[in-house]
Amino acid sequence: MQCINTLSTVGMKSRLMPITRAFSVTAFMWKEKVLIPKRYLGQPTPFTHQHLLKMDEITPGISRGQYSARRRDLMAAIGRSIYGSAKNHVAIILGAGKKYMTDEIPYPYRQNTDFLYLCGFQEPDSALILESIPGRELPDHKATLFVPQRDSDRELWDGPRSGPEGAMQFIGVDEAFTTDCFPEKLHRYLARENTVVWYDVFRPVHDSLHQDVSTNLIQPSRSRGHTVNILQQTIHAQRVIKSPEEINLMRKSGSIISKAFKETMKFSKPGVNEAHLYAKVDFEARLGGAEFLAYPPVVAGGNRANTLHYISNNQAIDDGEMVLMDAGCEYHGYASDVTRTWPVNGKFSEAQAELYGAVLSVQKDCIEQCTAGSTLDQVYHFMLLGLGRSLQNLGILPSSLNDVDLNRVSKMFCPHHVGHYLGMDTHDTVRVSRSNQLQHGMVITIEPGIYIPAAEDSVPSKYRGIGIRIEDNILITDKGPEVLSQECPKEIDVIESIMKR
Ligand code: GLY
Ligand code: MN
Ligand code: MN
Repeated sequence: MQCINTLSTVGMKSRLMPITRAFSVTAFMWKEKVLIPKRYLGQPTPFTHQHLLKMDEITPGISRGQYSARRRDLMAAIGRSIYGSAKNHVAIILGAGKKYMTDEIPYPYRQNTDFLYLCGFQEPDSALILESIPGRELPDHKATLFVPQRDSDRELWDGPRSGPEGAMQFIGVDEAFTTDCFPEKLHRYLARENTVVWYDVFRPVHDSLHQDVSTNLIQPSRSRGHTVNILQQTIHAQRVIKSPEEINLMRKSGSIISKAFKETMKFSKPGVNEAHLYAKVDFEARLGGAEFLAYPPVVAGGNRANTLHYISNNQAIDDGEMVLMDAGCEYHGYASDVTRTWPVNGKFSEAQAELYGAVLSVQKDCIEQCTAGSTLDQVYHFMLLGLGRSLQNLGILPSSLNDVDLNRVSKMFCPHHVGHYLGMDTHDTVRVSRSNQLQHGMVITIEPGIYIPAAEDSVPSKYRGIGIRIEDNILITDKGPEVLSQECPKEIDVIESIMKR
């Protein structure tokens, strides 16, 4: 097998042009300097999905130029790192494989997020290599994709594949090969002196491609004294700040799920099954334009709300109980993550209103803290103190406790953090510490809760068996916090009034 790409574009614009012209009559759309293959690829294109994509977009809302700038920014960050002065750099990012629930029955496919962020390519079993170009300074680099081979037998079952040509033209990388060529190409880097390899060796996202990287590059590199460095911190530091285009997608994701919540509140009634509320929020989110829910939602009636990761969602909710729903959707690759708690019969009891009011007031205070320079950890401690004082006011905690005690004891009533970064993943950019300062363009969740199990006999009986969380999605801006899920009702009178209808 020869791994030769006849369409390479690196420093060879003149080679690309004649080839594109040669194909342009039948095989490609050539418009506004964008080349789109005139056939189905392994993902939507402006040729096959005009309702989704503009001519310059790789995924809805994100242009080819933005993907290319992301790769360039990553290579610039590598150049600024303590290893930046090395002569050669090679960064390897693997795509995810398919996962199967049972024989030939796949789970819905989800691409590895870092890979998707850097190129937008959506087919399984792919890999991206970004490498410095000998004699040129970073961030100049070459981008190469490795993608599944076109295969008429497999395409009959699984649908069209892009193949190297389709991937290279549509994604706009410099070169593309089939994944069979991956081991051979990896091997080439061993010959280069003073090379730093950037690869997430401890978090392999694809078993066999990882084996290729490990055998052909990582192990021999180490024995030759080359540096191997993890990459994810650098990508996540970039991903945590959202571009204006990403913010638009996240606003829409927040708006879709907020409307879905509103419809689900209206649909609630005593005796309704949690499964039906799940179905309703899923239905409304998809109808609103989301591809799917971002995670299995929590739909927990009554005391089940005190099980933080309750996803069985299979019980009837009795009159007089509250329902806690934690649901988000993915809109063109961007997640929302919202929680609301409401009385299933549409009317808060006095005890429910007291506890709910306490969580709501702490949640609003926490949102006000979400400004540049603050940190998620600082807001967390602010939340614990606020919850502690509220619990004292309700007579649940003794008024004698000081601030240090309150901080500790509040964790018994709210065992989780105040929030996390949000973006392409629900728990986004996990390599970015919550002690980092918030910056404009970051999106976070703010989600305080109070959970009082039915068996908690140290608490007045009227509050037992109630679990409340209120979660919104917050964009940090120079004008202060912007609540992306603001259309989702959370005031007691608003919830009661929409549920009356
Ligand atoms: N829905 C997951 C979370 O709120 O973190
Ligand atoms: Mn959530
Ligand atoms: Mn969350």
